Amino acid sequence: MRDWTMKLSATVFSIIAMAIGVGVLGCDKPASNTASPAGSKVKIGYLVKQPDEPWFQTEWAFAQKAADENGFELIKIGTTDGEKALAAIDNLAANGAKGFVICTPDTRLGPAIVAKAKANDLKLMTVDDQFVGSDGKVMADVHHLGVAARDVGHVSGQSLMDEFKKRKWPLEQTAACIVTFDELDTAHERTEGIIEKLIEGGFPKERIFRAPQKTTDIPGSFDAANVLLTQHGDVKNWLVAGMNDTASLGAVRALEGRNFNADNAIAIGINGTDCIDEFKKAKPTPFFGSVLMEANVHGHDTTLAVYKWVSQGIEPPLTKFTGGVLITRSDFEQKLKEHGMWR
Ligand code: GLA
Repeated sequence: MRDWTMKLSATVFSIIAMAIGVGVLGCDKPASNTASPAGSKVKIGYLVKQPDEPWFQTEWAFAQKAADENGFELIKIGTTDGEKALAAIDNLAANGAKGFVICTPDTRLGPAIVAKAKANDLKLMTVDDQFVGSDGKVMADVHHLGVAARDVGHVSGQSLMDEFKKRKWPLEQTAACIVTFDELDTAHERTEGIIEKLIEGGFPKERIFRAPQKTTDIPGSFDAANVLLTQHGDVKNWLVAGMNDTASLGAVRALEGRNFNADNAIAIGINGTDCIDEFKKAKPTPFFGSVLMEANVHGHDTTLAVYKWVSQGIEPPLTKFTGGVLITRSDFEQKLKEHGMWR
């Protein structure tokens, strides 16, 4: 509470809103941030760009935990394109929600989403992917919880380099396939971080190839890697990485299509949530490891922060960035348990 008393106009508004809220309990005013009507719970939305990805399902599960523990209602919506995202915000407001968390399907929708949230008097926080303004720069004034992308890329790149060195493959027969998606800032930062560590470890720059994916799913990375593998049919050993697990998994499927296996290819993902079935396979695949990040914290803390913001006037910190640790086929279960993410 001490925090918001410092904020000028927001404070005045909050105090008035809270005072009115106390006075009008029982009178439902969906478009305002007043307290909920007696007996009804505060509603908070959680909108994600890829509801089928285990990463986002994990975020939703922990957001739900925050809602259950704190007695508010969570409205989960898969918003796979811009139209759905904007319509979902109107629907949230019509349903009496007070705020929402969003991982947008397109970061350039940032200004439109902020405007819509304002028009509906909804508090908003972004998760994972930061909004980009009309000037092409990150919208630093929108509350955000994401990953320290460069650092996470470094963990992936370093792990890939360490494993490569253990295998003692001849450099001249080895190349790296980095699946990229530069349209998304967090993806670009991660893959550049990976490449930095490969170069730092002595891997020749000219043997690092970028495979740009058109879509951030397995078919997208499969296609991107296939183009690259066709161009470099002479390579005997491949190192693979990308911005998340699906980026690396698609490349692994493309490698397997060309008879590569765990003995001549190493792939590392990022997320640690979308590779569990891969690790559980009886026979090891080239997918060696992943950088486990904190989907639980992302889901839980953003939702709780928005809830506290709308119900108690406590404004969350403007930005927070989380990190990640390597998990492999041999320790993923233990590490997920340690991080409270084994489900
Ligand atoms: C992006 C990716 C997700 C996940 C999150 C983590 O949104 O698409 O798979 O890596 O970042 O912040």
